[in-house]
Amino acid sequence: MTYSQNHFQDLIAHCKEYGYIFQSSELYDGLSAVYDYGQLGAQLKKNLRDEWWKSMTQLHENIVGIDAAIFMHPTVWKASGHVDNFSDPMIDNKDSKKRYRVDHLIENFADELKANGQDQKAEDLLAAMDALLAKDDFAGLKKLIEENAIKCSISKTCNWTDVRQFNLMFKTEFGAIATDNPDDNIVYLRPETAQGIFVNFLNVQKTGRMKIPFGIAQTGKAFRNEIVARQFIFRMREFEQMEMQYFIRPGSQMQWYEYWKAERKKWHESIGIPGGMLRYHDHVKLAHYADAAVDIEFEFPFGWKELEGIHSRTDFDLSQHAKYSKKKIQYFDNDIDPTTNKAYGNYTPFVVETSVGLDRLFLTIISLSYAEEKWTKEDGTEDSRVVMRIPPKLAPTKLAILPLVKKDGLPELARELMEDCKSSFMCFYEEKDAIGKRYRRMDAIGTPFCVTIDHQTKEDGTVTIRYRDDMRQVRIAMSAVKNIVMDKIG
Ligand code: GAP
Repeated sequence: MTYSQNHFQDLIAHCKEYGYIFQSSELYDGLSAVYDYGQLGAQLKKNLRDEWWKSMTQLHENIVGIDAAIFMHPTVWKASGHVDNFSDPMIDNKDSKKRYRVDHLIENFADELKANGQDQKAEDLLAAMDALLAKDDFAGLKKLIEENAIKCSISKTCNWTDVRQFNLMFKTEFGAIATDNPDDNIVYLRPETAQGIFVNFLNVQKTGRMKIPFGIAQTGKAFRNEIVARQFIFRMREFEQMEMQYFIRPGSQMQWYEYWKAERKKWHESIGIPGGMLRYHDHVKLAHYADAAVDIEFEFPFGWKELEGIHSRTDFDLSQHAKYSKKKIQYFDNDIDPTTNKAYGNYTPFVVETSVGLDRLFLTIISLSYAEEKWTKEDGTEDSRVVMRIPPKLAPTKLAILPLVKKDGLPELARELMEDCKSSFMCFYEEKDAIGKRYRRMDAIGTPFCVTIDHQTKEDGTVTIRYRDDMRQVRIAMSAVKNIVMDKIG
């Protein structure tokens, strides 16, 4: 698929116009990199979340789901390494005072080079950046920026500060108890949902009598004080993650890492993302907890970017929580190890994690779905429409029920159909405006099926079903509508 030049900007405007996504606190001129999902966006987001939840929990007998609190004991973040390590190298432009994440600044410049046909130069630059990031060579990164004359997008100058680390966690105060040390009351807004799973490992393993290998899944909000938060809902300060921690025997991590890497790509394809628009990108610089990591990237309208991360997290997190909580966090494995002929015994499980951003998945689906179409009709005149080709099983509204006119008993028949269908899937009833206009509105919000009730319905009980994707119209029995839609969204 090739995107049109203005695809992304048009999509953003469309999302606002039709109630998918609004800027947060727009009434007060908005809050940067925070967004609200409108009536259709909230439903599409829920459908995506449900699809992930079902695939993880219902379709895997050994994966269970939890819902941990956002607030956690502050020591969790000390143990996890986030207090000391969850930071990005930043650089400030001295003239505009704008702060950039170093990798984003260089990547954007590489994108500009590519857009100007200098692909090899861009690749060399990115390779040099990766090597410097892997060594935490901040002086080298600054030199790379200066040598390539990378400019600030606001001041257009190369007047840069040194590269420094900047922690991305939001802090707030907990409770109302005044203490001598203000740090006593600090809690963090979780920057990842994963820690809620790690600290509940023993609870879930024991109460669920889980046997390794097993997984714990969770969806929920995460917060990061991103410095360069942009590209709409791609990089937000408040976002939602869908994470699964898979607890395994030490030593089996590469096998499970490869397994989940393949499984997750297959899952994305199963919800309608073309395989050709997904690729793997191995991490060069590993996070403090990982011994292997890969991104599943999607080709967004602004280039290839991370959609999901698969990380082999070793026993880092469970060991750290054992150390900081002074509690034993281990698993007794009574299966027989064929190499020793003895039970595997006690160990700290290793973890392979899958972590996808729900908002990024949302952006992926709407980027793929949005289309502006033009064609010549049989009579030679031009026609056009904007359509959201959202896969039917994900679409916020599945069926529009449209009486042709507001009289002659047609609304009553339409209401009958509405009553029959609405407990099975999302329906939308509308009787205002010409039918063509109503179809176009349903195309624009991505409703895959419309049914029109007309005078013939009264005579023979048939209706017209219109398919969004090819605009085909077929006469069918009204009594067949529900099953046809159920079949297509199943
Ligand atoms: N627990 C591991 C973890 O959090 P990550 O690669 O930092 O790993 C996982 O984040 C996923 O969360 C990313 O692949 C992305 O989809 C999503 N994500 C991360 N930061 C985000 C942000 N600022 N806005 C939206 N989504 C984000």
